[in-house]
Amino acid sequence: MIKACVIGWPISHSRSPLIHGYWLRLHGIDGSYTRKPVEPAQLQDFIRSLPTQGLAGCNVTIPHKEAVHALVKPADATTERLGAVNTVFLRDSEVMGTNTDGEGYVNNLRQAVPGFTMKDQRAMVLGAGGASLAVVNVLLEQGAAEVVVANRTVERADDLRRRFGTRVVPLPWEHIETHLPETALLVNTTSLGMTGQADLVLDLSRLPVDAVVSDIVYTPLRTRFLETAARRGNPVVEGLGMLLHQAVRGFSLWFGVVPQVTPELHDLVARDIDPGYQR
Ligand code: ATR
Repeated sequence: MIKACVIGWPISHSRSPLIHGYWLRLHGIDGSYTRKPVEPAQLQDFIRSLPTQGLAGCNVTIPHKEAVHALVKPADATTERLGAVNTVFLRDSEVMGTNTDGEGYVNNLRQAVPGFTMKDQRAMVLGAGGASLAVVNVLLEQGAAEVVVANRTVERADDLRRRFGTRVVPLPWEHIETHLPETALLVNTTSLGMTGQADLVLDLSRLPVDAVVSDIVYTPLRTRFLETAARRGNPVVEGLGMLLHQAVRGFSLWFGVVPQVTPELHDLVARDIDPGYQR
């Protein structure tokens, strides 16, 4: 029996057990994937004792992603650059950490808009927090000519430029609308639009109608921001797919099978978020 889990504090809302449980059943694997609340004071002990607990690894969510980075061996350059870990696994009994948020974002984009490429294009990313970091990094890795980062607190966007270089262009929040004409991909990584928060309201009239608009918020499944973009004809990409795609590599590292993000999996998780969901 291979065991994995997701850790966070709190952890009760995590949909990861639903995703990994679906794949375990589909592939007939003798494995388990559970939620484990781990408080910050216990984090170091938990990570160090993974091998002796009989765990193959874990996912890491809020608020532990940065702290875990300091407790494990980063498995690749992207993870080192991000300073945050969402997936922990064992290699020759050593506790390793990697970050699959960026590939989750870009593989969802690829699946939702086949043929779209970031190469030599301009993106605008709204927000400059932890989620933004992973998205900005992967867009640069994909060859974006420029990633404009608009943030309410513009100093955090300046930090991203210092970290990633001059292809990152910080933008004060109030200048978003004037910079829309050159944008091929517009991404919301802020918490605006999440259930219980204010909506992200922008005048999109200057955005090209073929620009892809995406949101990493997935509660609700389709935010008002995406709804507005879809109504004017822009291709839109919902946030749930990023959650599904970021789970792929962890599953394959722990359980030895590369799983697929299927429409059936999407609908299973979508119905958990919104019981009235219909494709
Ligand atoms: P995460 O790790 O999910 O990215 P975070 O680091 O707390 O979370 O970042 C939240 C992002 O949402 C930030 O870019 C934040 O802007 P600030 O850096 O100015 O705080 C953005 N955000 C949250 N509430 C916002 C609001 N009401 N208006 C504009 N941006 C907001």
